[in-house]
Amino acid sequence: MALYSDKVMDHFLNPRNVGIIEDADGVGEVGNAKCGDIMKMYLKIEDDIIKDVKFETFGCASAIASSSMATEMIKGQPLEQAAQLTNKAVAEALDGLPGYKMHCSVLAQEAIHEAIKNYEEKGENKNE
Ligand code: FES
Repeated sequence: MALYSDKVMDHFLNPRNVGIIEDADGVGEVGNAKCGDIMKMYLKIEDDIIKDVKFETFGCASAIASSSMATEMIKGQPLEQAAQLTNKAVAEALDGLPGYKMHCSVLAQEAIHEAIKNYEEKGENKNE
């Protein structure tokens, strides 16, 4: 069996939503200390809906495919729902990742959580 599914290869070779959002409402950056890979997620939010999402990933094929798939999964979703996205769901949507590559999908989950947290913290500061 091939190491990576067709979907992983597709999202790795043609990643969706790559880039930055200059006026993002929430930005999350996470890294994995072991492999040194870094992922940054940008969210544009309106009425608690994710209107746009972009990412930059300096990492392995699985990390790039995971971020690409994760952005597709949360685009257009209410924040509450996006916050519940798990790395397992991302890996499943990619038709699986090799076991030792599951941590790469965790980066995507964490980057989204951090970006949402960043957005929420900004909102709290506004009301002070
Ligand atoms: Fe580091 Fe994949 S090996 S995120």
